Amino acid sequence: MSENTIPSVNDLTLEEKASLTSGGDAWHLQGVEDKGIPGYMITDGPHGLRKSLASETGATDLNDSVPATCFPPAAGLASSWNPELIHQVGEAMAEECIQEKVAVILGPGVNIKRNPLGGRCFEYWSEDPYLAGHTAVGIVSGVQSKGVGTSLKHFAVNNQETDRLRISANVSQRALREIYFPAFEHIVKTAQPWTIMCAYNQINGVHASQNHWLLTEVLRDEWGFEGIVMSDWGAVHDRAAALNAGLNLEMPPSFTDDTIVYAAREGRIAPEQLDQMAQGMVDLANKSRAAMSIDGYRFDVDAHHEVARQAAIESMVLLKNDDAILPLNPAANIAVIGEFARTPRYQGGGSSHITPTKMTSFLDTLAERGVAASFAPGFTLDLNEQDPALASEAVETAKGADAVLMFLGLPEAAESEGFDRETLDIPAKQVALLEAVVAENPNVVVVLSNGSVVTVHPWANNAKGILESWLLGQAGGGALADVIFGEVSPSGKLAQSVPMDINDDPSMLNWPGEEGHVDYGEGVFVGYRYYDTYGKAVDYPFGFGLSYASFELSDVAVSKTGANTASVSVKVTNTSDVDAAETVQVYVAPGKAEVARPKHELKGFKKVFLKAGESASVTIDLDERAFAYWSERFNDWHVEAGEYAIEVGTSSRDIAATGVVVLDGDGKALPLTEWSTFGEWHSDPIGGPIVEAMRAKGETGELAKLPDNDMMTMFLNSMPINSLTTLLGEPGKAITNFLLDEYAKVAK
Ligand code: GLC
Repeated sequence: MSENTIPSVNDLTLEEKASLTSGGDAWHLQGVEDKGIPGYMITDGPHGLRKSLASETGATDLNDSVPATCFPPAAGLASSWNPELIHQVGEAMAEECIQEKVAVILGPGVNIKRNPLGGRCFEYWSEDPYLAGHTAVGIVSGVQSKGVGTSLKHFAVNNQETDRLRISANVSQRALREIYFPAFEHIVKTAQPWTIMCAYNQINGVHASQNHWLLTEVLRDEWGFEGIVMSDWGAVHDRAAALNAGLNLEMPPSFTDDTIVYAAREGRIAPEQLDQMAQGMVDLANKSRAAMSIDGYRFDVDAHHEVARQAAIESMVLLKNDDAILPLNPAANIAVIGEFARTPRYQGGGSSHITPTKMTSFLDTLAERGVAASFAPGFTLDLNEQDPALASEAVETAKGADAVLMFLGLPEAAESEGFDRETLDIPAKQVALLEAVVAENPNVVVVLSNGSVVTVHPWANNAKGILESWLLGQAGGGALADVIFGEVSPSGKLAQSVPMDINDDPSMLNWPGEEGHVDYGEGVFVGYRYYDTYGKAVDYPFGFGLSYASFELSDVAVSKTGANTASVSVKVTNTSDVDAAETVQVYVAPGKAEVARPKHELKGFKKVFLKAGESASVTIDLDERAFAYWSERFNDWHVEAGEYAIEVGTSSRDIAATGVVVLDGDGKALPLTEWSTFGEWHSDPIGGPIVEAMRAKGETGELAKLPDNDMMTMFLNSMPINSLTTLLGEPGKAITNFLLDEYAKVAK
């Protein structure tokens, strides 16, 4: 096979095809070298390249990988609401993959943050599928624009760490379609990730790795996915079943290729199925060839660090800024308290752990910039009891300062891949320290470092300012200084609600499941979809984030652009003297519906950067899906006719203006039967006139006369017409038969 020939599965033996469907080792594809199919390397992700130093031998070392730029994990990137910026992060990661000869970077992870206690919430994007899909897509498009592949993961419904390898996520079709699938669906349809990684868990009792409905019928047949599906590491339990379901690649290898050969020979795997799965692996190798053939390339460490710094800046969310305490004057007498300022928590634990190319803490940055500030660690980063000496040192340091920056948050041991959190609170010793410091000096700004939201309610009143910085990656120190000292305004918006108490979250009724299953009883009411629908107070709502600037949204105009589509335009004005960015958010609020629907749902957004006094016009188009819900009755998306409110705002609870559009609906209707209620007959375009004809015959005595007082009408409307005999005996049966006979004549 010459170097330039593009091999195909037809050039391969049965044994070679089987070998392609399993890894060569934990971090390499198997390839078929003498047929021109290299065994390229694949590795993590997702917010930077983790190429374990031991990976050349296929070994794994979670803590020792080649230096790579550590970008902010997804919790931060999602808070930027800036797909273009995220695309740049993807491009930079691809360049590092090219240098390190990695063909596929394993990410992004777009599983929905069903419950903020989830151990990998730091690594996932949002509680909202629209935001998750429309931000994470930037990673896929950015990485793949350079000829490197991605692995959209973990497909699907992997929303917790507890028992993740076995548990069955029992979830309704509607919640799957409206909440847990859309981020995957959007990215597949708009960016075609080269690979998808299936999840460990079962979905309604069938492991994702051998779930034909999931991997073939939905992913390929419905959504048009063209790439390959790999397993999460160790997620395959029956290779033949997995191949038949549509899984191309088992990772890591189980060294059982012979079983696949036997299965094929015995007809347990159809030849065309094995060919399709193997061809996918050949295609992946062919797509990777160009980038993997680049030799001697070295990425620009400083340029990538700058991308990481910009991403970190836009990841931060300013939650509170009383008395405009921020930005601080760097020449002021500033006290910095909290070990995180010296030992930053800048990424999450587990398979995504990266060795950064450089690392500057906030304190390092102050020193580099010549900003004098006193410092006290205040507490240790373990979960041990507080050391009173550290506390008193911190309080002493805060005395007399113009402002106190308190770096609080979750230490590494508090959240990670592999386990879920037990509490939403930050360690009690940190809260106690904050109270002690505030008693000495009220001018406190809390800077939070955490991968998933923490409860702020217990201590928020103690702080004049709260800057949620998530996990900022390697450039977080510089980014924090830029924002805190006003070089740039914060522009992040919450991608995850901040509840007042974890027990306010509806998923807690079924968290984290029991006896091998977890019921998604809250259905589509996840995050703000629940809080806003049921009027639950939250500390900070989805989409919220302050700025050093002020903005005005005006001239909101909503127009119908088709039977079930609309467009909304809005003018955004920066009414301050500070250059900054605002994110316009559009929520669709359905009118009366046949099913229980959330009060409103995010269906569009646009981040605009405006100089002081500048204005811009934003237009957001809403397609039919923006108004649809998944009907389990139709087993399809359904748009009901009627009024829909279009809310335009700067958070889910800061709606500046609302327009209304009246849609035609998609006309879907179920055929009327004897089981259709009288009310359904009456409101149906065909059934209605037949009911009127029946009533006319009641007046002439040809049929029994139905009582038409309000009470009886209410009673009748909820009765299937085949139960009229219960009410009227034989005459009721005559009415039922009349309705069915007349309908049969018309609704052919
Ligand atoms: C892990 C993770 C997955 C990661 C893979 C390889 O178990 O679930 O996200 O890409 O194994 O490290």
